[in-house]
Amino acid sequence: MTGPFSSRVKDIEISGIRKIFEAAGPGSINLGLGQPDFDTPQHIKDAAIAAIQAGKTGYTGNNGIPELRAALSDKLKNENHVTCSPDRIIVTAGASEALHIVMQALVNEGDLVLCADPGFVSYAALATIAGGRPVGVPLDKTFHIDIEKAKSLMDGARLFILNSPANPTGAVESKESVKALVEYAEDAGVTIVSDEVYEHFIYGKEHWSAARFGDNVVTINAASKTYAMTGWRLGYLAAPEDIVGQCIKVHQYCQACATSISQYAALAAYTGDQSPVKKMRDEYKARRDLICAGLAKIGFSFPVPEGAFYAFVPMKPALVTRIIESGVILTPGSAFGTNAPDYARISYAASRDDLKRALDRIEKATGE
Ligand SMILES: Cc1ncc(COP(=O)(O)O)c(C=O)c1O
Repeated sequence: MTGPFSSRVKDIEISGIRKIFEAAGPGSINLGLGQPDFDTPQHIKDAAIAAIQAGKTGYTGNNGIPELRAALSDKLKNENHVTCSPDRIIVTAGASEALHIVMQALVNEGDLVLCADPGFVSYAALATIAGGRPVGVPLDKTFHIDIEKAKSLMDGARLFILNSPANPTGAVESKESVKALVEYAEDAGVTIVSDEVYEHFIYGKEHWSAARFGDNVVTINAASKTYAMTGWRLGYLAAPEDIVGQCIKVHQYCQACATSISQYAALAAYTGDQSPVKKMRDEYKARRDLICAGLAKIGFSFPVPEGAFYAFVPMKPALVTRIIESGVILTPGSAFGTNAPDYARISYAASRDDLKRALDRIEKATGE
């Protein structure tokens, strides 16, 4: 017995997904992953190698190298129409660290943290680790945030986590919804944390950054998905000065700085050739169309995902198990909260060949 352990951590479940994955045999097609199957573009790798060769391997300033923060400030202005000076940006170890330090800096014991249910697994867990109380925001039939319900939950809350395009549903929120949420939150004294990691993977709609519509907004983003750089652990937050002043303390003591080499790689990513991003977006769109048409043919009916690289498909847990046993790994809806136990997330960050083979297996498992 080596405890006692902190109840904030002890009471959190390690993701149950792993157990389910263990049921999958060898040769399974993995549609359970939330990461691009593309390689990091060559010019980004080259910049990292050059940084190593030049000996840029020490600590950087806590908030990140000035060149990268300046590039991110430009990116926010040009792509997101958000004005944010470099001193209001902290470079982090992925969006994950950015989410963690925001929660640590802003959430007091018992504070309410609103996040979509179904939603990305980390939000509720990080809120709990910070001593807060996660509260699920229900989605409508098309997986978009139910704005009226969201508003009714906001009074007395501390944070509202907005994630558009969303994991696991692929929903993209409209300008009207983002604006309404930000404006209501501002009046209610709720800080919006806007996780925009999938902003470049949208098919036919437009991305609206929450920070366009108000000041009490923390924007979180990362190179992870946009540039196929999940393993580089490079993200950032952009926030009002007073929030940055608190977040930097948590970042300083838990992380010191993001990896120096990854920061130089990210500088090349954000300032260099953007055509790889378009190529990936086009390919994801083709895969989305392929998987959605295939699933519809089998008989599944669900809202067509507008962004990210996931389809969120209604199916009972018993069918999810049969599909996994038949050699296609997908993620049960129960992993994303309490509201969608009869769904599964299918990631289409996999080759078209794998998607076609997976559809064959899903069809057989569904007919059993
Ligand atoms: C919505 C969302 N936010 C954040 C992350 C974490 O990103 P990072 O790898 O940059 O920590 C993920 C990863 O799957 C995600 O889906």
